[in-house]
Amino acid sequence: MKALVFHGPDNLALEDKPKPAIIQATDAIVRITMTTICGTDLHILKGDVPTVTDGRILGHEGVGIIDEIGDDVIGFHKGDKVLISLITSCGRCNFCKKAMYSHCLNGGWQLGNSIDGTQAEYVRIPFADNGLYLLPPDVDDEAAVMLSCILPTGLECGTLKGQVKPGDIVAIVGAGPVGLAALLTAQLYSPAEIVMIDLDDYRLEVARSFGATQVVNSSDGKAAERVMALTQAAGVDVAIEAVGLSATFEICQAIIAPGGHIANVGVHGKSVEFHLERLWASNITLTTRLVDADSTPMLLRMVQSGRLDAKKLISHRFELSEILKAYNIFGNAAKEHALKVVINNVSAIE
Ligand SMILES: NC(=O)c1ccc[n+]([C@@H]2O[C@H](COP(=O)([O-])OP(=O)(O)OC[C@H]3O[C@@H](n4cnc5c(N)ncnc54)[C@H](O)[C@@H]3O)[C@@H](O)[C@H]2O)c1
Ligand SMILES: [Zn+2]
Ligand SMILES: [Zn+2]
Repeated sequence: MKALVFHGPDNLALEDKPKPAIIQATDAIVRITMTTICGTDLHILKGDVPTVTDGRILGHEGVGIIDEIGDDVIGFHKGDKVLISLITSCGRCNFCKKAMYSHCLNGGWQLGNSIDGTQAEYVRIPFADNGLYLLPPDVDDEAAVMLSCILPTGLECGTLKGQVKPGDIVAIVGAGPVGLAALLTAQLYSPAEIVMIDLDDYRLEVARSFGATQVVNSSDGKAAERVMALTQAAGVDVAIEAVGLSATFEICQAIIAPGGHIANVGVHGKSVEFHLERLWASNITLTTRLVDADSTPMLLRMVQSGRLDAKKLISHRFELSEILKAYNIFGNAAKEHALKVVINNVSAIE
C-alpha cells in the first residue's frame, strides 16, 4: 500500500509499505478514504516529537471503511464507515478509568507517533471498539475528519481547560486549525469577546468570519500591548495558547488578568520561561492537556444536527498521491491561504 513515511526532520516520502495486519483480537484494519494533516505533524517534521522514529507512517486523523476486524471487536463489522479518533484507549487501565484516555497505559496518542498512522491506504486501529465511531450516513466525511483531532483538541485543551464562561474576554493565540477549533467551541459558552492573535492576516480574516470579535496581527511583536489596550489594561480572563512557541506563551502570560486561566494547547519542542516573579500573586491557573477525545461523540452529534459547521475549516483538497504537495501547502499556510488540507484516497472510494 502507499503510505507517507517519516525519515527524520524535514524528510518525508510516499512509499510502498506492507498492508497492516491484525495483531491483537481487539484490532481493526481500516481502509482510509480520507485523512488530513495536523499542526502536530509539522512539529514532528521539525523534530519536536522525539517519540516519532525513522520509518513511521504519519497521521492521526481519518475516516474510512472497516476492512477486517479481530475476533474480540464487538461493536463494528466489515464494511462499516467509521471516524478514527487520534487516541487509542484500552478502557481498563487506571487512566482510562479516569477518562484520561490520552494517558492510557496501553494506548494514548499512538497513531502516527509510536505506531503507524492514517496517512496511508490502510491503518491498524488497536482497541477498535474504543477508538472508532460509526459514522451516521448524514454526516459529511469532510466534517467528520475534523473530529479526529482538531475539534476535540480546541474544545478540551482550549475551551474547557480555559473554563470559558458567559461574559468572559478570551484571547486565542494561533489561528491555525486548532486555534480556530477553539474559537468555534468557545462560542458555545457565550464569552463577551474573543480576540484572535496570529501572524497571518488571511487566517485572522477567517477568524473574524468564524466569530472573533477582535483580531491582532502579532508580527510586530506588540500583540500583548495591543490586547491590553483593547481590554482597557484589564487583560483577558482566558488565554489559549494554540501555537507551541516560547513567544506565544509569553503573550499569554503578558495578557492574563488576575484570576484568569492560561490553557496551553500547543506542542512545545523547547522550554519556555514562566514568569512566576510576576504571576505568583495573580491567582492564575495554567493548564496543559493532551487531547483525550472524550468529547468526540458530543461533537459528532453537534455536526449531525447542523449546530457545528466543521467543514468550513477545510481550504484545500488533494489525493493521496499528492500528499507531499499537501504538506508543502499546509507548511506554507500563510503564503498558500491554507487552513485544513484533506487528502482523499480515491482508490479506496471507488
Ligand atoms: N495538546 C494537544 O493534545 C494537541 C493536539 C493537536 C494539536 N496540538 C498543537 O496545537 C498547535 C496548533 O495546531 P494547528 O494545527 O492549528 O497548527 P498550525 O501550525 O496550522 O497553526 C499555528 C498557527 O500559529 C501561528 N503562529 C506562529 N507563530 C506565531 C506567533 N509568534 N504569534 C502568533 N501566531 C503565531 C501561525 O501563523 C499559525 O496560524 C500545534 O502546536 C499542535 O501541535 C496540540
Ligand atoms: Zn492532531
Ligand atoms: Zn487504558
